[in-house]
Amino acid sequence: MKILVTGGLGFIGSHTVVELQNKGFEVVVIDNLSNADESVLNGIESITGKKPLFENIDLREKAAVQDFFKRHNDVSGVIHFAASKAVGESVENPLLYYENNLETLVYILQQLAEKIEASFIFSSSCTVYGQATAMPITENAPIQPAMSPYGNTKQIGEEIIKDAAKVSGIKSVLLRYFNPVGAHESAAIGELPIGVPQNLVPFITQTAAGLRKELSVFGSDYPTPDGTCIRDYIHVVDLAKAHVIALQRLLNNKNLEKVETFNLGTGTGSSVLEVINAFEKVSGKKLPYKIVDRREGDVIEAYADTKKANEVLGWKAQLSLENAIDSAWKWEKKIRAIEN
Ligand code: WQD
Repeated sequence: MKILVTGGLGFIGSHTVVELQNKGFEVVVIDNLSNADESVLNGIESITGKKPLFENIDLREKAAVQDFFKRHNDVSGVIHFAASKAVGESVENPLLYYENNLETLVYILQQLAEKIEASFIFSSSCTVYGQATAMPITENAPIQPAMSPYGNTKQIGEEIIKDAAKVSGIKSVLLRYFNPVGAHESAAIGELPIGVPQNLVPFITQTAAGLRKELSVFGSDYPTPDGTCIRDYIHVVDLAKAHVIALQRLLNNKNLEKVETFNLGTGTGSSVLEVINAFEKVSGKKLPYKIVDRREGDVIEAYADTKKANEVLGWKAQLSLENAIDSAWKWEKKIRAIEN
């Protein structure tokens, strides 16, 4: 079975390619290297012994997408990661986000709609819930007006997929990630943020590696036990495994509806200060940080109700926050050639 993974050299994409190969799938990766490095192919190969097929294609070029599917007409399923994902950048440059995240989605779906049947896994996000009122967050939680163009592209993307599935042989699973963190235990692949990291854990590991002076904690006056925001940090390897399980569900026609939605989290919320403490515990290093003002657009808390993913999808996160942070730190030390 040949599977296309778009954005397959990115953080979650590369970890998913490893898990697909571990399950015996033949993988072809499309990535335009706008937020990834081709050397990730070597990292994947060093783990699985197999280098996936790779094509450097910009999915905004419709003709290139059509040509790809002509040459790879034996693709049985697609896992679609390719998208821009920086919340702040999307506010400054919304049209880039609508073009890059939605036009590309349509071009791929158009190709899949020409097949008798096709399995499509979509990388969505808990951001579609905005600030959910009830915790833990279930898949039936109301979709709030998007708090950023990035979040809006995830909401609109889900609607596009549902409409396309109604009139074609497309079957889809929408995976709403909470906060992906960590790296493969081999430290052969991991997160490679370009520039100043937006996300908490890479900022922590870069600070500990000496690349950043100190971590700014965005607010400690939230209505939470320690005043800092709460998130559901899920190990990227657990997340990757969920994609393979969801794909197999579709390939084996186990899906109960043409489009199914699952929240992917651990079900446990952790505050920013708890993440910092976990890092100091696993690394044995004191992390320099200061409390600053809140960050615009942050929700107070978000953690997943994992019942549906556990019982219907048959997947449950296995790895702990400490394991995730430990693997993230090992990865940071590896790429910065730091000994301890
Ligand atoms: C986590 C917590 C910050 C950095 C975003 C996207 C979401 C998904 C995951 C793509 C928050 C605090 C962070 C820092 C801090 N991305 N923080 N100092 O915002 O929950 O989710 O990334 O799908 O769609 O919205 O993740 O890691 O940016 O922040 O205090 O330097 O850490 O305030 O409470 P977030 P994050």
